[in-house]
Amino acid sequence: MLSDRFGRNIEYLRVSVTDRCDLRCSYCIPKGFKGFEEPENWLTFDEMERVIAAFSRLGTRRIRLTGGEPLLRRNLPELAARLSALPGVEDLSLTTNGTQLDKHAQALFKAGLNRLNVSLDSLRRDCVQEISGSDSLDKVLHGLAAARDAGFKTIKINMVPMVGVNDGDIEAMIAFCIENNFILRLIEAMPMGSTGQHTQGLNLSRLLTDLGQRFELQESCKTLGGGPARYWESRDGRFTLGLITPMSQHFCATCNRVRLSVDGTLYMCLGQEERYELRPLLRAGCSDAELEAAIRDAIELKPEKHEFIERPQQVVRFMSMTGG
Ligand code: GTP
Ligand code: 5AD
Ligand code: SF4
Repeated sequence: MLSDRFGRNIEYLRVSVTDRCDLRCSYCIPKGFKGFEEPENWLTFDEMERVIAAFSRLGTRRIRLTGGEPLLRRNLPELAARLSALPGVEDLSLTTNGTQLDKHAQALFKAGLNRLNVSLDSLRRDCVQEISGSDSLDKVLHGLAAARDAGFKTIKINMVPMVGVNDGDIEAMIAFCIENNFILRLIEAMPMGSTGQHTQGLNLSRLLTDLGQRFELQESCKTLGGGPARYWESRDGRFTLGLITPMSQHFCATCNRVRLSVDGTLYMCLGQEERYELRPLLRAGCSDAELEAAIRDAIELKPEKHEFIERPQQVVRFMSMTGG
Protein backbone atom coordinates (compact mmCIF):
# COMPACT_ATOMS: atom_id res chain seq x y z
CA MET A 1 0.00 0.00 0.00
CA LEU A 2 1.09 3.56 -0.73
CA SER A 3 0.28 5.80 2.20
CA ASP A 4 1.02 9.48 2.63
CA ARG A 5 2.02 11.46 5.75
CA PHE A 6 -1.64 11.97 6.61
CA GLY A 7 -2.56 8.28 6.49
CA ARG A 8 -4.33 8.48 3.15
CA ASN A 9 -4.01 5.50 0.81
CA ILE A 10 -3.08 6.43 -2.71
CA GLU A 11 -5.02 3.99 -4.82
CA TYR A 12 -5.96 6.20 -7.79
CA LEU A 13 -3.57 7.52 -10.44
CA ARG A 14 -4.72 10.05 -13.02
CA VAL A 15 -2.54 9.88 -16.14
CA SER A 16 -2.50 12.81 -18.52
CA VAL A 17 -1.54 11.37 -21.93
CA THR A 18 -1.35 14.74 -23.72
CA ASP A 19 -1.60 18.39 -22.74
CA ARG A 20 -3.25 19.27 -26.06
CA CYS A 21 -6.92 19.86 -26.51
CA ASP A 22 -9.12 20.70 -29.48
CA LEU A 23 -11.34 22.95 -27.35
CA ARG A 24 -10.58 26.18 -25.44
CA CYS A 25 -12.91 26.10 -22.42
CA SER A 26 -12.88 29.46 -20.70
CA TYR A 27 -12.24 27.99 -17.23
CA CYS A 28 -9.41 25.75 -18.42
CA ILE A 29 -7.16 27.30 -21.11
CA PRO A 30 -6.25 30.98 -21.66
CA LYS A 31 -7.52 32.75 -24.80
CA GLY A 32 -5.17 32.49 -27.78
CA PHE A 33 -3.07 29.83 -25.98
CA LYS A 34 -0.84 27.94 -28.42
CA GLY A 35 2.21 27.07 -26.36
CA PHE A 36 1.77 23.35 -25.93
CA GLU A 37 4.82 21.37 -25.01
CA GLU A 38 6.77 19.54 -27.70
CA PRO A 39 6.34 15.80 -27.91
CA GLU A 40 10.00 14.90 -27.26
CA ASN A 41 9.26 15.54 -23.60
CA TRP A 42 6.31 13.21 -23.65
CA LEU A 43 6.47 9.82 -22.05
CA THR A 44 6.13 7.00 -24.56
CA PHE A 45 3.49 4.31 -23.98
CA ASP A 46 6.30 2.02 -22.77
CA GLU A 47 7.35 4.61 -20.17
CA MET A 48 3.78 5.22 -19.05
CA GLU A 49 3.13 1.50 -18.73
CA ARG A 50 6.29 1.15 -16.67
CA VAL A 51 5.26 3.87 -14.22
CA ILE A 52 1.71 2.58 -13.97
CA ALA A 53 2.91 -0.99 -13.41
CA ALA A 54 5.10 0.31 -10.58
CA PHE A 55 2.15 2.13 -9.02
CA SER A 56 -0.01 -0.97 -9.32
CA ARG A 57 2.64 -3.08 -7.61
CA LEU A 58 2.48 -0.53 -4.78
CA GLY A 59 -1.31 -0.95 -4.48
CA THR A 60 -2.79 1.63 -6.86
CA ARG A 61 -5.73 -0.15 -8.46
CA ARG A 62 -7.55 2.65 -10.29
CA ILE A 63 -6.13 4.38 -13.35
CA ARG A 64 -7.87 7.27 -15.14
CA LEU A 65 -6.62 8.55 -18.49
CA THR A 66 -6.97 12.30 -18.92
CA GLY A 67 -5.40 15.14 -20.90
CA GLY A 68 -5.68 17.83 -22.31
CA GLU A 69 -7.97 15.77 -24.46
CA PRO A 70 -6.75 12.18 -24.16
CA LEU A 71 -8.27 11.03 -27.46
CA LEU A 72 -5.87 13.36 -29.29
CA ARG A 73 -3.02 11.07 -28.27
CA ARG A 74 -2.46 8.71 -31.20
CA ASN A 75 -3.33 5.03 -30.64
CA LEU A 76 -4.81 5.61 -27.20
CA PRO A 77 -6.81 2.33 -27.37
CA GLU A 78 -3.46 0.52 -27.64
CA LEU A 79 -2.34 2.09 -24.35
CA ALA A 80 -5.71 1.24 -22.78
CA ALA A 81 -5.32 -2.41 -23.81
CA ARG A 82 -1.84 -2.56 -22.31
CA LEU A 83 -2.96 -0.99 -19.04
CA SER A 84 -6.11 -3.06 -18.61
CA ALA A 85 -3.94 -6.19 -18.92
CA LEU A 86 -1.66 -5.14 -16.04
CA PRO A 87 -2.15 -7.25 -12.93
CA GLY A 88 -3.50 -5.04 -10.14
CA VAL A 89 -5.30 -2.56 -12.40
CA GLU A 90 -8.95 -3.15 -11.48
CA ASP A 91 -10.50 0.03 -12.82
CA LEU A 92 -9.42 1.75 -16.04
CA SER A 93 -11.36 4.86 -16.97
CA LEU A 94 -11.20 7.91 -19.23
CA THR A 95 -12.21 11.56 -18.91
CA THR A 96 -12.82 13.13 -22.33
CA ASN A 97 -14.45 16.15 -23.94
CA GLY A 98 -16.22 13.69 -26.23
CA THR A 99 -15.44 15.32 -29.57
CA GLN A 100 -13.53 12.28 -30.88
CA LEU A 101 -15.51 9.64 -29.05
CA ASP A 102 -17.61 8.50 -32.00
CA LYS A 103 -14.39 7.38 -33.73
CA HIS A 104 -12.82 5.65 -30.74
CA ALA A 105 -15.60 4.36 -28.47
CA GLN A 106 -15.66 0.82 -29.83
CA ALA A 107 -11.90 0.36 -29.77
CA LEU A 108 -11.72 1.74 -26.22
CA PHE A 109 -14.42 -0.62 -24.99
CA LYS A 110 -12.72 -3.58 -26.63
CA ALA A 111 -9.43 -2.50 -25.04
CA GLY A 112 -10.94 -3.04 -21.60
CA LEU A 113 -11.68 0.53 -20.58
CA ASN A 114 -14.61 0.21 -18.21
CA ARG A 115 -15.80 3.73 -17.37
CA LEU A 116 -16.20 7.00 -19.21
CA ASN A 117 -16.66 10.58 -17.94
CA VAL A 118 -17.59 13.12 -20.62
CA SER A 119 -17.48 16.91 -20.20
CA LEU A 120 -20.56 18.75 -21.45
CA ASP A 121 -21.49 22.16 -20.09
CA SER A 122 -24.69 22.93 -22.00
CA LEU A 123 -27.09 21.52 -24.56
CA ARG A 124 -27.29 24.88 -26.35
CA ARG A 125 -24.99 25.12 -29.36
CA ASP A 126 -24.20 28.79 -28.84
CA CYS A 127 -23.42 28.27 -25.17
CA VAL A 128 -21.10 25.33 -25.91
CA GLN A 129 -19.44 27.51 -28.55
CA GLU A 130 -19.06 30.35 -26.06
CA ILE A 131 -17.55 28.17 -23.35
CA SER A 132 -15.39 25.85 -25.43
CA GLY A 133 -14.54 28.10 -28.38
CA SER A 134 -15.84 25.46 -30.76
CA ASP A 135 -19.16 24.41 -32.28
CA SER A 136 -18.71 20.98 -30.80
CA LEU A 137 -22.13 20.07 -29.36
CA ASP A 138 -23.19 17.71 -32.18
CA LYS A 139 -19.86 15.92 -32.14
CA VAL A 140 -20.13 15.32 -28.39
CA LEU A 141 -23.71 14.08 -28.70
CA HIS A 142 -22.66 11.66 -31.44
CA GLY A 143 -19.77 10.56 -29.27
CA LEU A 144 -22.08 9.84 -26.35
CA ALA A 145 -24.39 7.79 -28.57
CA ALA A 146 -21.40 5.86 -29.93
CA ALA A 147 -20.19 5.15 -26.39
CA ARG A 148 -23.57 3.77 -25.40
CA ASP A 149 -23.72 1.62 -28.56
CA ALA A 150 -20.20 0.36 -27.92
CA GLY A 151 -21.34 -1.08 -24.58
CA PHE A 152 -20.30 1.46 -21.92
CA LYS A 153 -22.77 1.13 -19.05
CA THR A 154 -21.71 3.87 -16.65
CA ILE A 155 -21.37 7.19 -18.45
CA LYS A 156 -21.03 10.34 -16.39
CA ILE A 157 -21.55 13.85 -17.71
CA ASN A 158 -19.29 16.49 -16.12
CA MET A 159 -20.78 19.98 -16.13
CA VAL A 160 -19.12 23.08 -14.63
CA PRO A 161 -22.00 25.53 -13.95
CA MET A 162 -20.89 29.15 -14.24
CA VAL A 163 -22.88 32.11 -13.06
CA GLY A 164 -24.57 33.92 -15.96
CA VAL A 165 -23.16 31.49 -18.54
CA ASN A 166 -24.72 28.04 -18.19
CA ASP A 167 -26.19 27.99 -14.70
CA GLY A 168 -29.63 28.24 -16.32
CA ASP A 169 -28.98 25.00 -18.23
CA ILE A 170 -28.94 22.61 -15.30
CA GLU A 171 -32.58 21.57 -15.61
CA ALA A 172 -32.26 20.79 -19.32
CA MET A 173 -29.16 18.77 -18.53
CA ILE A 174 -31.03 16.83 -15.84
CA ALA A 175 -33.80 15.97 -18.34
CA PHE A 176 -31.18 14.90 -20.91
CA CYS A 177 -29.43 12.66 -18.37
CA ILE A 178 -32.68 11.06 -17.23
CA GLU A 179 -33.66 10.36 -20.84
CA ASN A 180 -30.29 8.81 -21.67
CA ASN A 181 -29.53 7.15 -18.36
CA PHE A 182 -26.38 9.21 -17.78
CA ILE A 183 -25.15 10.26 -14.34
CA LEU A 184 -24.95 14.04 -14.09
CA ARG A 185 -22.07 15.54 -12.09
CA LEU A 186 -21.95 19.21 -11.32
CA ILE A 187 -18.49 20.60 -10.54
CA GLU A 188 -17.47 23.79 -8.76
CA ALA A 189 -15.00 25.75 -10.89
CA MET A 190 -11.56 25.90 -9.30
CA PRO A 191 -9.13 28.79 -9.83
CA MET A 192 -6.47 26.82 -11.72
CA GLY A 193 -3.88 28.87 -13.59
CA SER A 194 -5.17 32.17 -14.79
CA THR A 195 -7.08 31.57 -17.99
CA GLY A 196 -7.63 35.32 -18.33
CA GLN A 197 -11.32 34.63 -18.75
CA HIS A 198 -13.82 35.54 -16.12
CA THR A 199 -15.64 32.56 -14.68
CA GLN A 200 -17.52 32.39 -11.46
CA GLY A 201 -18.52 28.90 -10.45
CA LEU A 202 -21.77 28.13 -8.72
CA ASN A 203 -21.87 27.20 -5.02
CA LEU A 204 -23.30 23.70 -5.33
CA SER A 205 -23.85 23.06 -1.65
CA ARG A 206 -26.52 25.77 -1.81
CA LEU A 207 -27.97 24.50 -5.07
CA LEU A 208 -28.45 21.03 -3.59
CA THR A 209 -31.10 22.24 -1.17
CA ASP A 210 -33.21 23.44 -4.09
CA LEU A 211 -32.64 20.45 -6.41
CA GLY A 212 -33.03 18.00 -3.54
CA GLN A 213 -36.56 19.19 -2.89
CA ARG A 214 -37.63 19.47 -6.52
CA PHE A 215 -36.37 16.03 -7.56
CA GLU A 216 -36.88 14.29 -4.18
CA LEU A 217 -33.22 13.36 -3.99
CA GLN A 218 -31.84 11.05 -1.34
CA GLU A 219 -28.18 10.61 -0.55
CA SER A 220 -26.86 7.49 -2.27
CA CYS A 221 -24.44 5.01 -0.79
CA LYS A 222 -23.63 3.41 -4.15
CA THR A 223 -19.98 3.38 -5.18
CA LEU A 224 -19.95 5.04 -8.56
CA GLY A 225 -16.22 5.47 -9.05
CA GLY A 226 -13.26 6.37 -6.93
CA GLY A 227 -13.44 10.14 -7.16
CA PRO A 228 -14.51 12.95 -4.86
CA ALA A 229 -18.15 13.22 -6.00
CA ARG A 230 -20.96 12.66 -3.52
CA TYR A 231 -24.12 11.20 -5.03
CA TRP A 232 -27.87 11.62 -4.66
CA GLU A 233 -30.61 9.57 -6.28
CA SER A 234 -34.21 10.39 -7.12
CA ARG A 235 -36.73 8.27 -5.29
CA ASP A 236 -37.78 6.45 -8.46
CA GLY A 237 -34.11 5.63 -9.15
CA ARG A 238 -34.21 7.23 -12.60
CA PHE A 239 -31.79 10.05 -11.86
CA THR A 240 -28.42 10.17 -10.14
CA LEU A 241 -26.74 13.47 -9.36
CA GLY A 242 -23.12 13.80 -8.32
CA LEU A 243 -21.69 16.94 -6.77
CA ILE A 244 -17.98 17.81 -6.76
CA THR A 245 -17.52 20.66 -4.31
CA PRO A 246 -13.82 21.53 -3.97
CA MET A 247 -14.71 25.14 -3.10
CA SER A 248 -17.75 24.98 -0.81
CA GLN A 249 -16.99 21.65 0.90
CA HIS A 250 -13.61 20.19 0.05
CA PHE A 251 -12.79 16.51 0.25
CA CYS A 252 -9.02 16.58 0.79
CA ALA A 253 -9.16 14.56 4.01
CA THR A 254 -10.12 11.52 1.96
CA CYS A 255 -7.91 12.24 -1.05
CA ASN A 256 -6.75 9.00 -2.68
CA ARG A 257 -4.90 10.23 -5.75
CA VAL A 258 -1.91 11.73 -7.48
CA ARG A 259 -1.38 12.74 -11.10
CA LEU A 260 1.16 11.82 -13.76
CA SER A 261 1.55 14.45 -16.48
CA VAL A 262 2.59 13.65 -20.04
CA ASP A 263 6.16 14.85 -19.41
CA GLY A 264 6.58 12.37 -16.57
CA THR A 265 6.03 14.71 -13.61
CA LEU A 266 4.05 13.43 -10.66
CA TYR A 267 1.81 16.16 -9.24
CA MET A 268 0.88 15.55 -5.66
CA CYS A 269 -2.23 17.72 -5.48
CA LEU A 270 -4.46 19.46 -8.01
CA GLY A 271 -4.32 22.65 -6.00
CA GLN A 272 -0.64 22.73 -4.98
CA GLU A 273 2.77 22.81 -6.64
CA GLU A 274 4.48 19.82 -4.99
CA ARG A 275 5.85 17.59 -7.73
CA TYR A 276 8.42 14.93 -8.52
CA GLU A 277 10.00 14.40 -11.92
CA LEU A 278 10.20 10.77 -12.97
CA ARG A 279 11.33 11.29 -16.58
CA PRO A 280 15.05 11.79 -15.85
CA LEU A 281 15.05 8.61 -13.79
CA LEU A 282 13.20 6.62 -16.44
CA ARG A 283 15.50 7.81 -19.21
CA ALA A 284 18.60 7.08 -17.13
CA GLY A 285 17.55 3.43 -17.10
CA CYS A 286 16.50 3.10 -13.45
CA SER A 287 15.57 -0.30 -12.04
CA ASP A 288 12.03 -1.20 -10.96
CA ALA A 289 13.12 -0.98 -7.32
CA GLU A 290 14.51 2.54 -7.88
CA LEU A 291 11.30 3.59 -9.61
CA GLU A 292 9.18 2.30 -6.73
CA ALA A 293 11.44 4.06 -4.21
CA ALA A 294 11.07 7.31 -6.17
CA ILE A 295 7.28 6.96 -6.13
CA ARG A 296 7.34 6.45 -2.37
CA ASP A 297 9.55 9.55 -1.98
CA ALA A 298 7.13 11.54 -4.13
CA ILE A 299 4.13 10.52 -2.04
CA GLU A 300 5.95 11.86 1.05
CA LEU A 301 5.60 15.32 -0.55
CA LYS A 302 1.82 15.16 -0.81
CA PRO A 303 0.32 18.19 0.95
CA GLU A 304 -2.65 18.01 3.26
CA LYS A 305 -5.09 20.01 1.13
CA HIS A 306 -5.59 22.61 -1.54
CA GLU A 307 -5.67 26.31 -0.67
CA PHE A 308 -7.89 27.62 -3.46
CA ILE A 309 -9.76 29.82 -0.99
CA GLU A 310 -6.83 31.02 1.16
CA ARG A 311 -4.45 31.57 -1.79
CA PRO A 312 -6.61 31.69 -4.90
CA GLN A 313 -3.90 32.54 -7.45
CA GLN A 314 -1.11 30.32 -6.22
CA VAL A 315 -1.46 27.50 -8.77
CA VAL A 316 0.01 28.73 -12.02
CA ARG A 317 -0.21 25.59 -14.13
CA PHE A 318 -3.30 25.22 -16.26
CA MET A 319 -5.91 22.55 -15.75
CA SER A 320 -5.13 21.28 -19.26
CA MET A 321 -1.73 20.01 -18.03
CA THR A 322 -3.11 17.59 -15.49
CA GLY A 323 -6.67 17.11 -16.67
CA GLY A 324 -8.47 17.81 -13.43
P1 GTP B 1 -14.63 8.78 -10.85
O1 GTP B 1 -15.25 9.15 -9.56
O2 GTP B 1 -13.70 7.63 -10.67
O3 GTP B 1 -15.63 8.50 -11.92
O4 GTP B 1 -13.72 9.96 -11.43
P2 GTP B 1 -13.46 11.49 -11.04
O5 GTP B 1 -14.72 12.18 -10.73
O6 GTP B 1 -12.40 11.53 -10.02
O7 GTP B 1 -12.84 12.02 -12.43
P3 GTP B 1 -13.16 13.22 -13.42
O8 GTP B 1 -11.99 13.28 -14.33
O9 GTP B 1 -14.46 13.04 -14.08
O10 GTP B 1 -13.17 14.48 -12.49
C1 GTP B 1 -14.28 15.30 -12.38
C2 GTP B 1 -13.92 16.60 -11.73
O11 GTP B 1 -13.50 16.40 -10.42
C3 GTP B 1 -12.83 17.38 -12.44
O12 GTP B 1 -13.27 18.71 -12.56
C4 GTP B 1 -11.70 17.33 -11.53
O13 GTP B 1 -10.97 18.50 -11.60
C5 GTP B 1 -12.36 17.18 -10.19
N1 GTP B 1 -11.44 16.41 -9.37
C6 GTP B 1 -11.09 15.13 -9.59
N2 GTP B 1 -10.21 14.74 -8.66
C7 GTP B 1 -9.99 15.81 -7.86
C8 GTP B 1 -9.17 16.05 -6.74
O14 GTP B 1 -8.44 15.20 -6.28
N3 GTP B 1 -9.21 17.29 -6.19
C9 GTP B 1 -9.99 18.25 -6.66
N4 GTP B 1 -9.96 19.42 -6.03
N5 GTP B 1 -10.79 18.08 -7.72
C10 GTP B 1 -10.77 16.88 -8.31
N1 5AD C 1 -12.55 23.89 -12.28
C1 5AD C 1 -13.32 22.78 -12.18
N2 5AD C 1 -13.41 21.84 -13.12
C2 5AD C 1 -12.67 22.02 -14.23
N3 5AD C 1 -12.54 21.26 -15.34
C3 5AD C 1 -11.64 21.84 -16.15
N4 5AD C 1 -11.20 23.00 -15.62
C4 5AD C 1 -11.83 23.14 -14.41
C5 5AD C 1 -11.79 24.10 -13.37
N5 5AD C 1 -11.02 25.18 -13.45
C6 5AD C 1 -13.26 20.00 -15.51
C7 5AD C 1 -13.83 19.75 -16.88
C8 5AD C 1 -13.69 18.25 -17.03
C9 5AD C 1 -12.83 17.79 -15.90
C10 5AD C 1 -11.75 16.87 -16.25
O1 5AD C 1 -12.31 18.96 -15.33
O2 5AD C 1 -15.16 20.10 -16.98
O3 5AD C 1 -14.93 17.59 -16.93
FE1 SF4 D 1 -6.44 15.72 -3.04
FE2 SF4 D 1 -5.37 18.06 -3.52
FE3 SF4 D 1 -7.67 17.31 -4.68
FE4 SF4 D 1 -7.56 17.94 -2.10
S1 SF4 D 1 -7.22 19.30 -3.85
S2 SF4 D 1 -8.63 16.21 -2.99
S3 SF4 D 1 -5.57 17.08 -1.51
S4 SF4 D 1 -5.66 16.41 -5.00
